[in-house]
Amino acid sequence: MKGLPFILFAVAAICAVIGMAWGIVMSASGDHTLSPAHAHLNLLGWVSLALFGTFYHLVPNAGASMIAKIQAAVAIAGVVLIVPGIAMAINQAGEALAKIGSLLTILSMVIFLIVLVTKGRAPA
Ligand code: HEM
Repeated sequence: MKGLPFILFAVAAICAVIGMAWGIVMSASGDHTLSPAHAHLNLLGWVSLALFGTFYHLVPNAGASMIAKIQAAVAIAGVVLIVPGIAMAINQAGEALAKIGSLLTILSMVIFLIVLVTKGRAPA
């Protein structure tokens, strides 16, 4: 594995390590206040990024395209912003970061849909 799939899996695994360690800290402390932020780090960071990486590995033509690189960058930026954004929102420290992160996250999925439709289908 190399290129975009490798980068996506590397970022996904980093998210999983941080997200799981966060889960262990929540369990040990008994404080589950930030569990929605933990859940989004694991699901958007680990699961979604790994799914994107899997797709781009299986469809190298799509993975080599510029739009796929943009899609991955937007998805990673979305995770990086939405996770602390959710934690801030829970702590009533503002919702702006969560809003920006959520918009980037849905934008990344819209771009992924475009990649899928334009580059994901096998030739007839
Ligand atoms: C070492 C691994 C993990 C530990 C120790 C852990 C621990 C926890 C804890 C303590 C909670 C709070 C439960 C509650 O308040 O009822 C939680 C919630 C949650 N976790 Fe994890 N977790 C781990 C990995 C994961 C992974 C890999 C995912 C997803 C891929 C995940 C998804 C979730 C979800 C969806 C919730 C519910 C959040 C909510 O209700 O707001 N967790 N986890």
